[in-house]
Amino acid sequence: CGIVGYIGTREAYPIIIEGLKRLEYRGYDSAGIAIFDGTDLKVSKTKGKVSDLEERAEKEITKHGNIGIGHTRWATHGVPNDVNSHPHLSNSGDLVIIHNGIIENYESLKQELISRGYTFKSDTDTEVLINLIEDVKIQENVKLGQAVQIALNQVIGAYAIAVFDKTKPEEIVIARLGSPLAVGVGENEFFIASDASPFLEYTKNAIYLEDEEMAIIRFHKGIKVRKIKDDSIVPAYVQELQMNLEQIEKGGYDHFMLKEIHEQPKAITDTYRGRLLRNEAIIKMAGVEDNMKKFLNANRIIIVACGTSWHAGLVAEYIFEELARIPVEVEYASEFRYRNPIIGENDVVIAISQSGETADTLAAIKLAKSKGAFVFGVCNVVGSSIARETHAGAYTHAGPEIGVASTKAFTTQITVLTLIALRLARAKGTISSSGFRQHLLELELIPKKVEEALESDAHIKMIADVYKNSRNCLYLGRGFNFPVALEGALKLKEISYIHAEGYPAAEMKHGPIALIDENMPIIVIATKKGHYEKVVSNIQEIKSRKGKIIGIVTKGDTQVRELADHIIEVPDTLESLSPLLTTIPLQLLSYHIAVLLDKNVDQPRNLAKSVTVE
Ligand code: G6P
Repeated sequence: CGIVGYIGTREAYPIIIEGLKRLEYRGYDSAGIAIFDGTDLKVSKTKGKVSDLEERAEKEITKHGNIGIGHTRWATHGVPNDVNSHPHLSNSGDLVIIHNGIIENYESLKQELISRGYTFKSDTDTEVLINLIEDVKIQENVKLGQAVQIALNQVIGAYAIAVFDKTKPEEIVIARLGSPLAVGVGENEFFIASDASPFLEYTKNAIYLEDEEMAIIRFHKGIKVRKIKDDSIVPAYVQELQMNLEQIEKGGYDHFMLKEIHEQPKAITDTYRGRLLRNEAIIKMAGVEDNMKKFLNANRIIIVACGTSWHAGLVAEYIFEELARIPVEVEYASEFRYRNPIIGENDVVIAISQSGETADTLAAIKLAKSKGAFVFGVCNVVGSSIARETHAGAYTHAGPEIGVASTKAFTTQITVLTLIALRLARAKGTISSSGFRQHLLELELIPKKVEEALESDAHIKMIADVYKNSRNCLYLGRGFNFPVALEGALKLKEISYIHAEGYPAAEMKHGPIALIDENMPIIVIATKKGHYEKVVSNIQEIKSRKGKIIGIVTKGDTQVRELADHIIEVPDTLESLSPLLTTIPLQLLSYHIAVLLDKNVDQPRNLAKSVTVE
């Protein structure tokens, strides 16, 4: 979620709205704003994007006032609706809050407040928090800052909050634990935001709150930072930001692609959060649950997609067939739409698309629907055309992907598809209960293991330097990792313009082997599970033709290490989940080669992020 606030001499409304737009990458399920207009508090909030909020605010509120807060929410679980959107008001209507994070003990706090006569409009933890603050303020007869401090000491969870009191509209109180919060310090004005991008055009002086710190920001009087725990004063450290807007949006990384590669542990966690409930040993996905009959009666699943999403579909083919024993066909959307495909009511079509706007995929969906098939969408962009056109679906929740070469969209697509396959496998009884539990456990470990895989970055950069001038490159893999080889080759082609081909390792001898000489780098995915010995023989075949071997291996591997010119280790996991790890070094390898060749990593020539033409 994203937070923005303003107190000063300018109109708060445009600053907050523009700020929310900059933060929209943090969430776009609902948005809201509260402004004090000199006499009263004006609140407008809505499900949807900041542009929807603007439309609504236009009709609902006067937009004048010098103090206000705004919020853009990204629901990873729970329904994004108007009532649940932020800001939230206290019972008296005096206090208003925006909040990121989760108050874990909100249920018991809520019961306590209900017993004292408080009522609640929404089912959010945030509304509990603002009423707790109000209750403390009244009971203990203290100022807002102190009330916030006392209340937060009763809270278990994570938060970044901004609160103000319409009866004292010259101060805003903010606090953080676990979610970022920055304050832009101007002349007689302060900006509050989840990152500096909303205020960078006004001031480069910023204070970043640390965890367990709060600040009381007073118009004309300045800012006081305190420890939430014991109310002790912390010297406010104002730093001068050296970054420009674009750099901030890139979170300190040189390119969006690199940022997005590094975001994968979080993105994958966000994808399964609220869906994978390991303690209860269940997977909950509304779109699947509501249409369980369709899935269980399906003769087969047809996956349609383009580009990287098509590769995710190929991985899913292995996963669905292995776990849920449902036959799967994976089709290029562009081919599917111009055939006369044999497809009917007992077929389930899964359309995969990051952008949700790809013209060929959209056309394939319409065709499948016209033939009576049930169509399920796996999209990243909320509310996109494909998300709307499909009968049901599941979002990947990867957050915005800006780099044209798709990275986190791919791994989160695989994550969603794995969850679906597991859910269906459970319903069909094609997986044992212990096998199911083991998958849930291993899936939950994946983000940590992706982090570990990312640690090879410097080593991979060194390998990239050795091979950056290659003209051709071959990527080999088998089973679940054959599509990863295709994706690895695509990544290299897309951003470094080096010709690359992905091949099933054993198929190499029917063609590509003719290309191998001492100048040819061959990236071989040779993880421990999954035809390991067979892949090792393929590696020997390459070696005897003097090809250069880069092995992607399981941590601790010794056999490939002896044969290969370079190895890159990834942590061990279940074979069906291994693509989530083996993909990582291939993304980094292409990234570094492209950077070393001085190519435009985020906007490679001729390619587009969202291809809305056929
Ligand atoms: C373009 C992008 C690719 C993407 C493909 C499919 O070619 O450059 O990165 O994989 O479109 O896009 P979609 O949004 O449908 O996943």
